[in-house]
Amino acid sequence: MSFKAESHFNNEDSNTTNNPGIDEILEARLSRRRLFKGAGLAGAAVGASALTGCATGMGGGSGHSVGSLSFKAVAKHTSDKVVVPEGYTAQVLYALGDPLTASTPAFRNDGTDADFGNRAGDHHDGMEWFGLDAQGRPSRSAALRGLIAMNHEATTDEKLSSFFLHADGGTATLPRPAAEVDKELMIHGLSVVEVQSDGKRWAYQPDSPFNRRITTMTEAAIHGPARGSEHLVTRYDNTATRARGTLNNCGAGRTPWGSFVSGEENWFGYFFRDAKDDEARKNDKQVKGLVRYGRKAGAASRHGWESAGTADQYARWNNSASGASAKDDYRNEMNTFGYVVELDPYDGRSLLRKRTALGRMGHENITFAKVSPGQPVVAYMGDDARGEYIYKFVSDAKWDAADAEPANRLAAGDKYLDKGTLYAARFKSDGTGQWLELSMDNPVIAGSSYFEFKDAADIAVFTRLAADAVGATKMDRPEWAGVNPKNGEVYITLTNNSARTGATADSANPRAYTDMKGSKTQKGNVHGHILRLAESQPTDTGFRWDIYLFASEADADKATVNLSNLNDENDLSSPDGLVFSQATGLCWIETDDGAYTDKTNCMLMAAVPGRVGDGGSKSLTYGDKTVTTHVGKAQTPATFKRFLVGPRGAEITGITETPDGRALFVNIQHPGENTKMADTTNPAKYESQWPANAGYGAGQRPRSATIVITKNDGGVIGS
Ligand code: FEO
Ligand code: CA
Ligand code: CA
Ligand code: CA
Repeated sequence: MSFKAESHFNNEDSNTTNNPGIDEILEARLSRRRLFKGAGLAGAAVGASALTGCATGMGGGSGHSVGSLSFKAVAKHTSDKVVVPEGYTAQVLYALGDPLTASTPAFRNDGTDADFGNRAGDHHDGMEWFGLDAQGRPSRSAALRGLIAMNHEATTDEKLSSFFLHADGGTATLPRPAAEVDKELMIHGLSVVEVQSDGKRWAYQPDSPFNRRITTMTEAAIHGPARGSEHLVTRYDNTATRARGTLNNCGAGRTPWGSFVSGEENWFGYFFRDAKDDEARKNDKQVKGLVRYGRKAGAASRHGWESAGTADQYARWNNSASGASAKDDYRNEMNTFGYVVELDPYDGRSLLRKRTALGRMGHENITFAKVSPGQPVVAYMGDDARGEYIYKFVSDAKWDAADAEPANRLAAGDKYLDKGTLYAARFKSDGTGQWLELSMDNPVIAGSSYFEFKDAADIAVFTRLAADAVGATKMDRPEWAGVNPKNGEVYITLTNNSARTGATADSANPRAYTDMKGSKTQKGNVHGHILRLAESQPTDTGFRWDIYLFASEADADKATVNLSNLNDENDLSSPDGLVFSQATGLCWIETDDGAYTDKTNCMLMAAVPGRVGDGGSKSLTYGDKTVTTHVGKAQTPATFKRFLVGPRGAEITGITETPDGRALFVNIQHPGENTKMADTTNPAKYESQWPANAGYGAGQRPRSATIVITKNDGGVIGS
């Protein structure tokens, strides 16, 4: 999600706990002593397995080769176009509003279009490739025909309206007209779209029977510990086993059994609560949960959907306790969002499943460790809001290699994602860390006076409170996680945190600095960083960590800000999307930046990853406080280089590839998002007219779109 929208949502600051507080200070004091005593003491604190060094037996030997970056770096720019390196071509493939059935009219792009249940949604985000063979059967190797499953996260907003969707910009006051809300309800969610290449050009297939939309209104099944929970009972389903829709889907992933997973991120902002709702609920424990998830009583909703009428599709966004019981109103509707959802993109009849065992939070993406027969399935996840946590899930079920090609993908999902254990990360200044168990087996949770956890459902629904209780480390907005196929190390982008100060800096979130954007002073960690973890096995409860990359402007001070030695070919701000190529082992990093946009639009970087511990320690001083951190090897353009710069106002997000690495799909989200609502009908004042100005589609309104990048000589992308 974009910087602009995040100023309302990711920046909610609903984590008012003191984590990591005392622990981190204690660690800082102890760290000098440990230097003298050697690594043994640090090892004892987290279990010896965290210190066994290189990640042998994990993904290594998979045959991936990480080459050098053979392309010429793309220069930063602020033009309204997508620029890729010389020798590459970027083609617009699939944009907001594109028809997904043969009978859906072409997109006029003037705010009069309707029937978004049969069109591409808005704000393309995380996506994954699912190959099809010539007969249209699922194929792991197909590289010219496939399905792309995609998140449609949000809309380009000002005030209450998603203004480019409506002919005149829409209504910025309450009540919102039902006709506008109906459109907005259908434009969020997911899509599945078939794409094909003739060997030269790619095209999406408007009449493919595989094409599908999931919207905020599509029925979904609740799975995992929260299924049947009192916290999910609604007027729609008194049994708490079904819910409607998915919302604000941000990052994505692919399961080891070949399905699509997607994270519900900033869903809470779509709900309204009456000013007196805390009293109506008699201040029960739900109130603490609602506030911790960003919904104070009386807070306005993002779009005012609840105001459009008494019909059920509007009433459900009013999260107030207004009826006799939870069976009579939508006081629990918000608890049906905030999960990882799983979809079988090959089966258009299958129900979306909400995997509550993976916890409820502002889910960014989900990434899986390499599976090993007889071992649990392990996944890593970030909760994207300021001061939130990094999580890991370990399944109860042990991996059966036969499930790599299961007869029923969602049944495999039931097996691996409905029962397991969640952990939250705590970082220590000595370069180690611990996964803290979030289960009723942990006495800190079972006996918590902070929040009453009665069962696994309480942990699944109020996951942030469980992580608070165990003392997880508050991070600078965890976004995407990715697993290096070469050595199993886990990379996590921490996009930025304008609230980070010297007083709250810790070794894993060590920078707080001042940056100028034109004449505007920006403070905190405005450019973000990328952290990485090494475990000897994915099931370990201990890990080693360092900071792979400190995002920075090239000319910033190298002792305090530009700690990764970035230059003009590879400087960046606000890393967000992060995906490893399975074909090349390169790490692709995308930016969602609002801090460096005076100098450049958002970008896509290519990286040759190193390994945890390949750099050294650095100390940063804030007054009389010293923060020691662990920095990966300094970067050069041989290891880290800019591959793409997008059009104006757009974030670069979502990336997937064909299995041969010869086609790279990238999403351009919300071009022109800084356009003013008053200028909706004045194209001359649009911040962007992309992709119309690249020759794609009617009208001039900017549209989120998928591009496909190929190398002109037909080669593998990037290396
Ligand atoms: Fe939707 Fe955290 O970006
Ligand atoms: Ca994101
Ligand atoms: Ca972001
Ligand atoms: Ca600057």
